[in-house]
Amino acid sequence: MKVAVLGFGTVGVGVYEMLAKAPGFEQGPVLVRKGKEDQPFKVSSMEAICADPSVGAVAEVMGGVEPANTYVAMALRAGKHVVTSNKALVAAKGIELAAIAREHGVSFLFSAACGGAVPFLHNLSIAALSDTIEALGGILNGTTNFMLDAMQTEGKDYGDVLRQAQALGYAEADPTADVSGLDALRKIMLACAVAYDKLPVDGFAREGIESITAADVTDFQSRGLTCRLVTSGGEAGESVYAYVEPVLFPAGAPECSVQKNFNMAKYRGENAGSIVLMGQGAGRYPTASAVVRDLYGIGGVPMMTERCREVIADNASCVHPYYVRVAAKDKALFAFAECREDGENLRGVTEPMAVPVMHAVAEGIRKEGGSIFFAAME
Ligand SMILES: NC(=O)c1ccc[n+]([C@@H]2O[C@H](COP(=O)([O-])OP(=O)(O)OC[C@H]3O[C@@H](n4cnc5c(N)ncnc54)[C@H](OP(=O)(O)O)[C@@H]3O)[C@@H](O)[C@H]2O)c1
Repeated sequence: MKVAVLGFGTVGVGVYEMLAKAPGFEQGPVLVRKGKEDQPFKVSSMEAICADPSVGAVAEVMGGVEPANTYVAMALRAGKHVVTSNKALVAAKGIELAAIAREHGVSFLFSAACGGAVPFLHNLSIAALSDTIEALGGILNGTTNFMLDAMQTEGKDYGDVLRQAQALGYAEADPTADVSGLDALRKIMLACAVAYDKLPVDGFAREGIESITAADVTDFQSRGLTCRLVTSGGEAGESVYAYVEPVLFPAGAPECSVQKNFNMAKYRGENAGSIVLMGQGAGRYPTASAVVRDLYGIGGVPMMTERCREVIADNASCVHPYYVRVAAKDKALFAFAECREDGENLRGVTEPMAVPVMHAVAEGIRKEGGSIFFAAME
């Protein structure tokens, strides 16, 4: 089957190269912007790709919601299978695109959009049929894992590790989506859609790593703890819980062994128990490998079924003690199980708090111009 590739950037080049060696598949045309057709296989007309009967599948690796959404819908309506690494697209338009795919009897698969090379969504889509998924999530953003790991192993400041991540190509020029937790949140949206047929679209709690300082690292390391940015999801009545926040793990927890830009995706099945998948969460060939792997899933288990619907996330039942660093004047906002003064700050661990309450208190402090770092205690 000939595969057209939409976008010839980091992932697109990897997919195109891998297609040359993928049994059963062949390199098709590559969509580039007008004026960039500098080689015979590069085209700038999506209409021409859709009209080409030799193209059986399309790999969308352009990124962004539009025009990717329009192009993917065109391809599906033309009877082409579509695989994509674009989490922003699937989070925003996945339900509609999956419906178009069903209508036209083709596959719409997006394993590469969550976890890079880690076969998380692929496994979840199958496990969801054979088991009840009790919880899912893990470390799903390699950029922030690289940054946290470097702060903790090399004693560097946030600004230094961000620059290092950018120099190595892990973080983009605008790193906001990674460091704010938005990228990880989009991934948990997709995982909930695959596992529970519920795509959370609002009601999230999201805390990234922008507030962490070298002094925070020194303090929680003195307590024997390691910080990771963790996504959590699971069923919550008619809805799902879905949130992203830093978590502190005791020495020996599997999360402490996730180094550099690696990912650790997890789910717990009622029958299977805990399943942990580790691997490279980003990069040209790891991500391209997941795109090509999805091509071999064409005609198999769908990732987004006709039952999938949008829900508002409900995190009220999720409760943790939190490690908190705040100005001493904000002490009364928390019920501390233990705390001590550190200059003008207080550092301590709260009594268990509901996730939405913790996130709302932090938002209130920042609205008043204050500063806070918090992380759930595993
Ligand atoms: N990089 C990773 O490690 C990774 C990992 C997991 C998922 N992903 C996802 O994979 C997708 C691609 O990421 P990437 O890192 O490969 O991005 P990238 O390096 O920026 O490549 C995107 C390519 O798409 C092209 N493009 C964008 N809009 C286009 C249009 N309208 N027509 C034709 N070409 C267009 C761009 O061309 P121009 O250069 O001309 O703009 C660029 O060549 C994103 O959704 C991303 O979230 C990436």
